[in-house]
Amino acid sequence: MTLTTPQDTTSTREGEQHSATKKAQPKTVLMCRPDYFTVSYRINPWMFPENPTDQSLAATQWQSLYDTYLRLGFDVQLIDPLPGLPDMVYAANGGFVLDGIAYEAKFRYPERQPEGPAYLAHLAGLGFDAREAVEKNEGEGDFLLVGDVILAAHGFRSESDSHREVAEVFGRDVVSLKLINPSFYHLDTALAVLDDETIAYLPSAFDDQSRAILEERYPEAIIATEEDAAVLGLNLFSDGLNVVMAEQAHTLRVELEARGYNTHSVDLSELLLGGGGVKCCTLELRK
Ligand code: ARG
Repeated sequence: MTLTTPQDTTSTREGEQHSATKKAQPKTVLMCRPDYFTVSYRINPWMFPENPTDQSLAATQWQSLYDTYLRLGFDVQLIDPLPGLPDMVYAANGGFVLDGIAYEAKFRYPERQPEGPAYLAHLAGLGFDAREAVEKNEGEGDFLLVGDVILAAHGFRSESDSHREVAEVFGRDVVSLKLINPSFYHLDTALAVLDDETIAYLPSAFDDQSRAILEERYPEAIIATEEDAAVLGLNLFSDGLNVVMAEQAHTLRVELEARGYNTHSVDLSELLLGGGGVKCCTLELRK
């Protein structure tokens, strides 16, 4: 007969439960209605200003994402869209918010630059400690928190100097990664955070060194197909159990369900014309 103390039994059971069961974390996010959404300039390969966009379809599709988040119990905050800033709907680029601190976005292209101060002022109004940025960076488009670590990308939009700045501002470990495929110009188009330990990514979007870092850190990662990445399937938002993602990313959805996540599909085809999906429309606010 083996003697186990009550404490031992409890900790064993909790340990088992933890690995077997996924748990939804409460989420607070910031979104921006696509009132002024259109494609009037070209700053990524997805954008074709000569092709028409349908603002009312964009609004309907965006609403389906918003409604999904409400249904999942998220606290969804809204920032007022500003005329003349058609990409403001991609709230992920509006900053990086963690530990009650809001780090300002400083956009590469002039077309989006006014969004940085607009988002920062809004976040300050919500009570976040607002920090102006010196270095070029595109917020949560290129900075993703996985557990305690910040994965940070450069190559197309954010400068690697911003990785140092983020490390200083948040006092956290920052892992620098280099993006090499212009279609996956922000980190959140090439890599998805599913929970504190799990990511999914498209290896070919990263240079050799970055790929080696990801393989070493995340041996259990889900490797996305080129097809799923090409519909911005990796541009998803997860609360650790529920994954809100592009309807069109079939293989990834099956893989996520097999791993025990509950997937919720949305069709954001109109917002894809600007080069953004679910995650791009979502800025996480962490107190
Ligand atoms: N048209 C926008 C741009 O090129 C799309 C931004 C997508 N956002 C994102 N987090 N990936 O800047």
